[in-house]
Amino acid sequence: MSVAGERPRDSSGLGPEFGPSALGTKEHWDAAYESELQIFQESGDAGEIWFGEESMIRLIRWMEKQKIPLDSSVLDIGTGNGVLLVELAKCGYTNLTGIDYSPSAIQLSQNIIEKEGLSNIKLQVKDFLTPSAELSGFQICIDKGTFDAISLNPDNAAEKRKQYVKSLCTVLKMEGFFLITSCNWTKEELLNEFKEGFEILEELPTPKFCFGGRIGNSVTALVFQRKK
Ligand SMILES: C[S@@+](CC[C@H](N)C(=O)[O-])C[C@H]1O[C@@H](n2cnc3c(N)ncnc32)[C@H](O)[C@@H]1O
Repeated sequence: MSVAGERPRDSSGLGPEFGPSALGTKEHWDAAYESELQIFQESGDAGEIWFGEESMIRLIRWMEKQKIPLDSSVLDIGTGNGVLLVELAKCGYTNLTGIDYSPSAIQLSQNIIEKEGLSNIKLQVKDFLTPSAELSGFQICIDKGTFDAISLNPDNAAEKRKQYVKSLCTVLKMEGFFLITSCNWTKEELLNEFKEGFEILEELPTPKFCFGGRIGNSVTALVFQRKK
């Protein structure tokens, strides 16, 4: 499950810039979730879990290990089908918000959340790159594949990545945690992207692969803390 397709990487952190892709456009995600919404209505299938079940378990384990209070405010950036929020709610987290710029993604999340009998998850159609004042003060922000998608935007992706970091600074509290899972960026590249205002706390273990005698990760999962 890759947003960009395969990109063999090593631990040097040096990789090519990504070319523009339909995966970086709202039209793509609108159509994708429109179709997933229809499938859900017909079969009850919640659709794709980006980076698999283990990507959710990894994040939730970290939160549990850190003893993050269950009432901490959590924002899922680009929530897609909202399944991560459902899992967090099932683990007892009570202050959950998901945003996505695709109305069909939010509709799908809403339907899944209702089917699960959960009512206290807040959902909003919102472009993360144009945050509004009411979206602020979160203790935890989670991104699973959204920064990857934004990085593929055909219209000035470098500027969009900068705006992403600005938006993150608007929504995340000082000393709040930012958990990112990416298949497009190495640890070193992500450290560079988030060097202004964030420091790395931990790299979460992800599956490794061996390519040309070098060991790399197909997915990178990092925890940052917003600096004071
Ligand atoms: C690879 S999918 C991941 C979905 C979800 N996080 C998951 O793990 O299943 C990327 C998501 O980011 C959303 N997205 C992309 N750009 C966005 C933006 N600027 N603002 C809000 N959501 C965005 C897409 O609509 C899509 O739901």
